[in-house]
Amino acid sequence: MTDGLRISDLHSGYRNKKIIAGLNTPLLPRGQITALLGPNGSGKSTLLRALADLNPASGALYLNGEDLMSLPSATRAKKVVYLPQSLPQGVHLHALESVIVARRASGSVSSGHVQQEAYDILNKLGVSHLAMSYLDQLSGGQKQLIGLAQSLIRQPDLLLLDEPLSALDLNYQFHVMDIVARETRRRNIVTVVVIHDINIALRHAEYALMLKNGALVASGIPGEVVTPANLATVYGVDGRVEHCSRGLPHVVVDGLTP
Ligand SMILES: Nc1ncnc2c1ncn2[C@@H]1O[C@H](COP(=O)(O)OP(=O)(O)O)[C@@H](O)[C@H]1O
Ligand SMILES: [Mg+2]
Repeated sequence: MTDGLRISDLHSGYRNKKIIAGLNTPLLPRGQITALLGPNGSGKSTLLRALADLNPASGALYLNGEDLMSLPSATRAKKVVYLPQSLPQGVHLHALESVIVARRASGSVSSGHVQQEAYDILNKLGVSHLAMSYLDQLSGGQKQLIGLAQSLIRQPDLLLLDEPLSALDLNYQFHVMDIVARETRRRNIVTVVVIHDINIALRHAEYALMLKNGALVASGIPGEVVTPANLATVYGVDGRVEHCSRGLPHVVVDGLTP
């Protein structure tokens, strides 16, 4: 089977600093959210940036059977979209304009259409009221939502979201994960999301990768990746996996491992 993203023997890092050395993962599924888990500094952003061709990398990357490494960078940039942890500062554009610019960058469309498409995506994310606000005057969470709109409108085959929930309130956290899951399913794309909140990962992701020091510690369905043993090894916490009254798993941390 070739549907999905396969990462083989991937190396990436910075000058004189290897972060990811020979990473292999199982096929990351299409149409589902993969949660990328791991402590601060474990290489999550480095990995996503390597997948998006923003960090130097070597190894093999196949998306739905296609060799990403051999694609011209402009072609790859249309297929793979990376939403960074924070949007660049000082962009004096309306939110709506910024989404239109993102859509134009991904291919030619008629201007009437693109405006409607941009409105629709803002509406879907519950932020159409921000359409005429300037990006540099939005709150951190509002900027994240506009960044997500920019990413979705580019219609990637591989969507990489780096901590898209970090500045969002409970309502928008749920809303964003719900929309990202639905869009991922509807478009049948591969979506990888860095999520710090393990319970959100358990609730919304269908697959999970757990990294420590740039290496894969566990992969599979979140319920199998998030175990007391892995929580201890990877995060150094003493955690329990409980089941709520609806039978869904969630993690309770009782302390730090000795
Ligand atoms: N631009 C950079 N130059 C040098 N080292 C970096 C750079 N960005 C990140 N690192 C280092 O790479 C390691 C992994 O960082 P990162 O991928 O950002 O981790 P995570 O996203 O999991 O928190 C860390 O040790 C970090 O200090
Ligand atoms: Mg990071």
